[in-house]
Amino acid sequence: MSFEIFLATAPGLEEALYDEVRSKGFKQVKVTNGGVTTIGGWPEVWRANLWIRGASKVLARIASFRVLQLAQLENHVRQIEWREILNSDTPFRVDASCSKSRIYHSGAVAERIQNAITESLSSNYSPDAEITVMARIFRDICTISVDTSGGLLHKRGFKERVNKAPMRENMAALFLQQCGYKGDEPVYDPMCGSGTFVIEAAEIAARLNPGRARNFAFENLITYDPKAWEEMRDVRRQPNADIRLYGSDRDRGAIEMSAENAARAGVGEITSFKQENISDISPPTSEPGLVMVNPPYGARIGDKRKLMPLYQTLGEALRTRFSGWRVGIIATDSKLVKSTGLNFMPQGKPVQNGGLRIRLFQTDRL
Ligand SMILES: C[S@@+](CC[C@H](N)C(=O)[O-])C[C@H]1O[C@@H](n2cnc3c(N)ncnc32)[C@H](O)[C@@H]1O
Repeated sequence: MSFEIFLATAPGLEEALYDEVRSKGFKQVKVTNGGVTTIGGWPEVWRANLWIRGASKVLARIASFRVLQLAQLENHVRQIEWREILNSDTPFRVDASCSKSRIYHSGAVAERIQNAITESLSSNYSPDAEITVMARIFRDICTISVDTSGGLLHKRGFKERVNKAPMRENMAALFLQQCGYKGDEPVYDPMCGSGTFVIEAAEIAARLNPGRARNFAFENLITYDPKAWEEMRDVRRQPNADIRLYGSDRDRGAIEMSAENAARAGVGEITSFKQENISDISPPTSEPGLVMVNPPYGARIGDKRKLMPLYQTLGEALRTRFSGWRVGIIATDSKLVKSTGLNFMPQGKPVQNGGLRIRLFQTDRL
């Protein structure tokens, strides 16, 4: 059985996700709004959840049809072979949305879908169910999907504590990829917060699968094969030798948190964290690599002017001490980034991150 699989990501990172999904061997990959699609069966769904760093969710698209009335919708949904997808003893919930369509009442859509599914299965609807059936009606085309991930995929399952404004792991991984990081050079984050960039970079170097330690919603579907999944999950790959990853931050709590998070992720031995102010930073290794950093954004009014000296100090430290390194800065404000005095390549697309539009600013080798 083959169907369309949708991998969602933050808007603005679709092309980067496309590169990752293609590079990992998935077939017929296409960029679409808010993510990419590929074609495959349930093993590809499990593999996508296990392997892909840049996705926030993996949806199995099980039906798509044109619909103008609620009764028609209910008929279509009744025809789906729910017994081959959902477990009759596992509760499910429905998440519906409508836009630019004759049908506009998402509450009514969810209710009709619930009714149609409960007619063919004894399983119950529950608002807190782990299985979500998603219905999106856009320009009168209804797409029915099952969310196979459950909790968002940036939750790798290792971070118990986070600092202020942590970068989501899936976005951090795609920004590292956009800076050309392949797991074979040192990475240094001098404002590491809870350690997201350093830990993602370390996992890539150690060739660990991002989904190796968490649970997924697909484990509750009838299509789940625990033996095949165990075999897939237990494959160990040869780590890249001798790569070390570094983080520093002026905040002691952040450093402790980063070290704990790295240890829990199993990359404690290849990562080092130390407390240091940005004015005192120096290259942690003689071999140049990639500096990857997201300084405070200054989202509140008045913050930007106050942050100018911090960006200037970061820029001066990098320009004068980091010869041969490449730099990637994630920020919202191009004036602040320009104040570093670094020469940046043409800007990438803005990326939606909550209410903020962030951007990757990258340099060539300094
Ligand atoms: C936006 S957060 C980084 C979040 C991080 N990427 C993560 O995922 O958790 C910015 C970090 O810069 C640190 N910071 C602010 N001023 C600093 C300075 N002068 N020197 C070093 N670190 C500083 C803060 O402590 C904070 O952890």
